[in-house]
Amino acid sequence: MPKEPDRGISPPVCQNWGMSLPSEEQVTEKLTAVIDPELRRNIVELGMVRSIDIKPDGQVDVTVSLTTAGCPIRSHFQDAVTSQVSSLEGVTKVGVGFDVLSDEEKGTLQQTLGRDKLPQGALAQVNNVICVASGKGGVGKSTMTSNLAAALQAQGLKTGALDCDVYGYSIPRMLGIDVKPDVNGERKILPPEAPSGVKTMSIGYFVEENSAVVWRGPMLHKAIQQFLEDVAWGELDYLLLDLPPGTGDIAMTLSQLLPQAKLAIVTTPQPAAQSVARRSAEMANKVDLEIMGVIENMSGFTTPDGETFSIFGEGGGQLLADDIGVPLLGTIPLSEELREHADVGTPLVVEKPESPAGAAIIEIAKRVAAMSPRELPMLQDASAEAPAAVKLGANARELPVLQ
Ligand SMILES: Nc1ncnc2c1ncn2[C@@H]1O[C@H](COP(=O)(O)OP(=O)(O)OP(=O)(O)O)[C@@H](O)[C@H]1O
Ligand SMILES: [Mg+2]
Repeated sequence: MPKEPDRGISPPVCQNWGMSLPSEEQVTEKLTAVIDPELRRNIVELGMVRSIDIKPDGQVDVTVSLTTAGCPIRSHFQDAVTSQVSSLEGVTKVGVGFDVLSDEEKGTLQQTLGRDKLPQGALAQVNNVICVASGKGGVGKSTMTSNLAAALQAQGLKTGALDCDVYGYSIPRMLGIDVKPDVNGERKILPPEAPSGVKTMSIGYFVEENSAVVWRGPMLHKAIQQFLEDVAWGELDYLLLDLPPGTGDIAMTLSQLLPQAKLAIVTTPQPAAQSVARRSAEMANKVDLEIMGVIENMSGFTTPDGETFSIFGEGGGQLLADDIGVPLLGTIPLSEELREHADVGTPLVVEKPESPAGAAIIEIAKRVAAMSPRELPMLQDASAEAPAAVKLGANARELPVLQ
């Protein structure tokens, strides 16, 4: 007899006072919203729902079959299944159990996925993914991404920064990196580490400086996918994504590849900028990405005498945050030294953490850290030895393609 799976029972959702029970079809329908973040499809489609048991008192037990017993995203499934199923009328409790797919079932899954091998889960050890976005260009996304990454790292949190802006890449420059990435023995790209300790990846490492690169939509998707799948990010508390301006294809790509990602929207303080920034919020809602908050950048400029000028207006960040119902994560003043340090690759938060702009970004980093879960991921395949590094040609124009 198969062993009864371990079942984590949620606290009672409500009492079923004679309410009708949901049908198995309704529960299954809800489970189609539970996405495997590595395989990027829902667990029903993947054949990972082993059983659904609807008890007369409204308790619903769901058993999810995992690809490995020590699956690091187990708690993701636990939470997602509980939240989906408990939203059905008549459900009083949700029990989520786990077992492991048989070899035969894994074979079927591989066929469903149309791949020879199951993905190794390059992001399995990445706890939080935050996309830094804006409606219009030049509002300081890259400056925020690089400084926030350095600030999180300085707080002892392992952080990576991925430049998703393939035309206007800025992360290597802002974080002070001028090396090319190596590739390890598993043909994974090793993300160059900034002096601040932040791991980085950017298309800038693969193209000649100042060369004009033309990207078509599918190429863009593929490049981002590779940066997520084929880069050895390792264990990270935060991976920050510096998005290009606007609301283009990239959001679609990211929501498909990273349904668990959250968005931080950068805006300038003039209320007129709000309608543009709001578009990025609408885009996020459309593709189902959660917005964690708004950052107002280029707020008042304070002279050395302490006089403050609101060059770009006032209050736009708070207005936008209230409008979309998310917190204002903080406001960053206009600061010449913030720009100067970004230009030479020495983030202000590291060089002058006490400066007004540096301190404001550090505060945001603390708020972000307080808002996101920080459970330790279970190490995947910890026994595997680190493969030897292989040098990628200095002028390499292509990323090593796996499979
Ligand atoms: N608070 C600030 N004070 C002064 N200068 C700033 C501030 N924030 C950003 N800058 C400067 O403004 C310019 C644009 O910033 P940044 O490149 O970070 O914007 P972006 O939103 O990433 O732009 P793009 O949309 O082109 O990617 C940079 O020169 C940067 O140093
Ligand atoms: Mg930018």
